[in-house]
Amino acid sequence: MSRRPVNTSRRFGESGGGLFSSSKSRSSPVLTVGLLIVGGLFVIAYLYKGSGGFSSHFDSVSRVEEDYLCTGEVQRAIPILHKAYGDSLRKVLHIGPDSCYVVSKLLKEDETEAWGVEPYDIEDADRNCKSLIRKGIVRMADIKFPLPYRPKSFSLVIVSDAVDFLSSRYLNKTLPDLARVSADGMVIFTGFPGKLKAKVADVSKFGRAAKMRSSSWWVRYFHQTNLEENESASMKFVQASTANSYVPKCQIFHLKSLP
Ligand SMILES: *[C@@H]1O[C@H](CO)[C@@H](O)[C@H](O)[C@H]1NC(C)=O
Ligand SMILES: *[C@@H]1O[C@H](CO)[C@@H](O)[C@H](O)[C@H]1NC(C)=O
Repeated sequence: MSRRPVNTSRRFGESGGGLFSSSKSRSSPVLTVGLLIVGGLFVIAYLYKGSGGFSSHFDSVSRVEEDYLCTGEVQRAIPILHKAYGDSLRKVLHIGPDSCYVVSKLLKEDETEAWGVEPYDIEDADRNCKSLIRKGIVRMADIKFPLPYRPKSFSLVIVSDAVDFLSSRYLNKTLPDLARVSADGMVIFTGFPGKLKAKVADVSKFGRAAKMRSSSWWVRYFHQTNLEENESASMKFVQASTANSYVPKCQIFHLKSLP
């Protein structure tokens, strides 16, 4: 199987040797001066941090919402998904960037088991995310290749942002495969055209810039690939959204699982 392994070694725990590890027994004057400079930088950094200069950098929640609009949207939509899917929200697979956040949120729901697939490199996984990956609850996998799950392994499959980075050649393979592993349907969160700014960094990380397709493009696409809309789920979702004054910032499609 031509699965391209996602390289996990680079991401965590690799605290490279660096400055202090190659300690010789006699310290040279150059090293001493270097250490003094580094020490000075630490003091400056400490003072700067004290003034609040770094704090916004660590705000992980807002980071999710800024970088991946629809992954943030999945978290907001969980109560609505509950109303539309009821019992079918008991065994969920989330697929998309920052899956750890969505999975953690789902695991807090009563009677919901959740797993995640993180399709892209994680540069700054926090402790919680590393633990989810270690336990195998969230796995790193390239979604251009078939997922290692049996048919209908999950009641519901939720996809956010990820499809925006796939060309139609790969969509043709990936979407039916996602429908295959779900039993009670699949929910796709995708950006509105013109909403998400494609960042330069995206291209190197995702292989291509995000391409936001219109709602009519998607409907035509689903039709061509024999993926059917789950009209009853769509209707319940819209009704629950109205009742909760919930206005999604992404396009949301409800598809049926494969028979
Ligand atoms: C994807 O599938 C559709 C429907 O089967 C087909 O019309 C289209 O040519 C395919 N696209 C690619 C790039 O293979
Ligand atoms: C359609 O959605 C409902 C939840 O509203 C779900 O119970 C049902 O299994 C879905 N149908 C298919 C074929 O996926």
